[in-house]
Amino acid sequence: MILAERVLRRERSGSSSPVVVRTSRGERFVKLRGAAQGITALIAELIVAELAETVRLAVPARELVDVAPAIESDDLNDELRDLLDASVGVNVGFAMLDGARDLKVTEYESVPLDAAAPILWLDTLVQNLDRSRANPNIMVRRGEYWLIDHGAALPFQHNWSSVREDSAQRPYDTGRHVFAWAAPVLATVHETLAPLMTRDRIRDAAHSVPDEFLAQVSDDVTRRRAMYATFLWKRLQWMHATLG
Ligand SMILES: Nc1ncnc2c1ncn2[C@@H]1O[C@H](COP(=O)(O)OP(=O)(O)OP(=O)(O)O)[C@@H](O)[C@H]1O
Ligand SMILES: [Mg+2]
Repeated sequence: MILAERVLRRERSGSSSPVVVRTSRGERFVKLRGAAQGITALIAELIVAELAETVRLAVPARELVDVAPAIESDDLNDELRDLLDASVGVNVGFAMLDGARDLKVTEYESVPLDAAAPILWLDTLVQNLDRSRANPNIMVRRGEYWLIDHGAALPFQHNWSSVREDSAQRPYDTGRHVFAWAAPVLATVHETLAPLMTRDRIRDAAHSVPDEFLAQVSDDVTRRRAMYATFLWKRLQWMHATLG
């Protein structure tokens, strides 16, 4: 964990008001625990980023960032102060993607199939509906695509009581996905990526979530962590059955 020294600015385009923070190890793009999206969004960010790396997709490196009470901020906005007060403690920091920019609408169709299809495959696994044409959550730098903003993935975590044996088999609506056109090659992509997504890697991804986050949403941290891994493993099995 690294200590946030000072808040430098808000990222105004983000609905969760992420902030750029100075730490002893440089600047970090920080998603705050006090944001309306809640701690579950931070849990999804950590797990999905690990799964993305498992299949060799680029995501900014994560580190937990400690925000102290009354942290100083260059941005004196009142709502930001409230948000920082609500975010004292452990937050999620990402490496700054310096020099990267958001993927533009005019570029969607020109992304090569071999870059687009693995992204569609990951989003199918984690049920990410936040890679739409309206909001693709992809940044580009020197021809490389970086995946950001996975807080809305893993929708099952919002309602564990309704999770049934077959919940992991829910079809993924690729229709709104920015790379919906890559769907015909998903089965081929699955052949390459599924072997990388081992049970251990899924467990490791669940272990990247600190106890402290899970304790906010469950009395039994160990069991809750295992529930994420089990659901994702079942979803991968469903992908085997439908794509394999
Ligand atoms: N690691 C990063 N380094 C630099 N800029 C980033 C980084 N992550 C995100 N950004 C920029 O900040 C914007 C908002 O980030 P992000 O989408 O993660 O936030 P959000 O609050 O979840 O947004 P929304 O819900 O509106 O999509 C991105 O569109 C991108 O331009
Ligand atoms: Mg976004």
